[in-house]
Amino acid sequence: MLELRGADVFYGKAQALHEINFAIAKGGIAALIGRNGAGKSTLLRALAGGQALLHGTRWLDGENITSLPLHLCSRRGIALVPENRQIFPSLTAEENLRLPTTLHPPGYWTLQRVYGLFPRLAERRATNGTSLSGGEQQMLAIGRALLTNPRYLLLDEPTEGLAPVVVDAIIRAIGEINAQGAAIVLVEQNFKVPRQLAQAFHLIDSGRIVWSGGADAIDQAQSRMMIGH
Ligand SMILES: Nc1ncnc2c1ncn2[C@@H]1O[C@H](COP(=O)(O)OP(=O)(O)O)[C@@H](O)[C@H]1O
Ligand SMILES: [Mg+2]
Repeated sequence: MLELRGADVFYGKAQALHEINFAIAKGGIAALIGRNGAGKSTLLRALAGGQALLHGTRWLDGENITSLPLHLCSRRGIALVPENRQIFPSLTAEENLRLPTTLHPPGYWTLQRVYGLFPRLAERRATNGTSLSGGEQQMLAIGRALLTNPRYLLLDEPTEGLAPVVVDAIIRAIGEINAQGAAIVLVEQNFKVPRQLAQAFHLIDSGRIVWSGGADAIDQAQSRMMIGH
C-alpha cells in the first residue's frame, strides 16, 4: 500500500493540496480525475516522493517514507511517468530505455518484454527522442518506467492529446502492466479512459479530494463534476 495521510502541499504561499488522504492498494488501479489546475500532478509527485509535504505523511507498506527522496523511492518500487514525459531528446529510444537498467535490480520487465508490450518502440529503437511522435514518446516514457520494475506505477495523463488508436494501445498496455502485478495510479481529466481500467475513482477539485467511489458510482461522480463546474 502506498499512501498519503493528511498531506498539505504549498507552492510559496499558495496551497495546492489540502489534507489529502489517498491510498493505492498493491495490485490495484486507482483513477484520479480532475480538471486542469485541480492538483492532480502535484498529488502524483507527492506520492512519488518528488514533492515535499508541509504537513502530513507518506507511507509505503506500513513504513513512514515521508522524507525519503525521489531516487530512493524509485529504488523502492515507485515510478512516476510525468506529464511532459522527460524523454532525453539526443538519445535514441533504446538509449532512453536503457537508462534505468543500470540503477535497478532486474525483474519481470526487460527490454525485450517492453518491446513486446509496445512493438512500435522496437521498430523505432534507433530513432532519436525528438523524432518520435507523441504516442511513441508516451510508450517510451512508460517503457522506461517499467524497466525500474515498479510495484507502483504513477501515470500523469498518459493518453492526453493522442490519437484514438494510440489511446487504445496505451489502455491495453496499462491492463497488461497491472496483470503483471504493478499497482497503478492513473491521472486523467475525465472518466473516459479510467472507466475502462480502474476499480477505484477519486475526484480532485481545488486541491481537495471531493469524491471517491467504485465503478458502480461513476455516473453519480460524472454528474457531480458537471454540476460543480
Ligand atoms: N511549480 C509550481 N509553482 C507554483 N504553482 C504551481 C506549480 N505547479 C503547480 N502549481 C499550481 O498548483 C495548482 C495545481 O497544479 P497541478 O498539480 O499541476 O494541477 P493539475 O495537474 O490537476 O493540472 C495549480 O493552481 C497550479 O497553478
Ligand atoms: Mg497535471
